[in-house]
Amino acid sequence: MNDLATQAATIGVIGDVHLFWDDEDVAFFNRAAYDLLLFVGDLSGYTQVRGQRVARSLRRLRVPAMCIPGNHDGLHAFQLGAEIAPRAHRFRNAFCRGQARRCRRLGEALGDIDLVAYSRHRLAPAGVPLNIIAGRPHSIGGRRLACLRYLEEAYGIDSMESSIARLKWLVDACDDAPLLFLAHNGPSGLGDRADSIWGCDFRRKEEDWGDQDLEEAVRYASSAGRNVLATVAGHMHRKTKSGKSRPAQVEKDGILYVNAAEVPRHREVNGAKRRHHVKLTLTAEGATAEDRWV
Ligand SMILES: [Fe+2]
Repeated sequence: MNDLATQAATIGVIGDVHLFWDDEDVAFFNRAAYDLLLFVGDLSGYTQVRGQRVARSLRRLRVPAMCIPGNHDGLHAFQLGAEIAPRAHRFRNAFCRGQARRCRRLGEALGDIDLVAYSRHRLAPAGVPLNIIAGRPHSIGGRRLACLRYLEEAYGIDSMESSIARLKWLVDACDDAPLLFLAHNGPSGLGDRADSIWGCDFRRKEEDWGDQDLEEAVRYASSAGRNVLATVAGHMHRKTKSGKSRPAQVEKDGILYVNAAEVPRHREVNGAKRRHHVKLTLTAEGATAEDRWV
């Protein structure tokens, strides 16, 4: 007889791909016996054409998978520049034009792999009941919402407050099964140093670069008595600009937070090519994560 408490699901979490993906990765994940694959976004680099090539490769996976769009997915280089560089901010709304089409193309290239955002998914990988909540897409971190004009058109989100409300609404839509949050950038509240798990390493002032809406949604779920197992995200590359390493995972108030962004995820180790992902193991009781270089 199966005991729910002892059942375990294994989930492969793939950090920011940034074009580091090839046939060997497809072959590995097709034989690795994961129950589910979660891509935290940023399949692309600076052109959508090459990102779509990665997406078309991903569709050959024979494992259920979902991907949340990162700030490199569905944005062209000028748009990304306008979101990042303060002097170009005035163009950022105009550059959202066409983003819906670019995202649709990415979704088409992904085939059966779900491109997810502001959504809830009720699954049972390996028999473990699970609600996955996909957070805000295209997050760039910090207090400002990236791609605001597009978020408004596509999701009706026009502020941090409305994003918080939408994520809480998704929490309320979950049943009694445990929760897992999938996001591109992780939540705020986990440290304000450059080398904190989602800390800002590209400004002179060290600060918390996590997403406030995600932090509030996780807290809301916990305080409502929900069993939140884990939050998985990426975006802030584990190696900081000054060469320090962020923690790959943090546990706080019984919730596991995983930053999977080992970039580049293909490395040469002792003359052999190694590929990174995180093995996440879930039971109804809790979650553990370990880095895998294969
Ligand atoms: Fe990113």
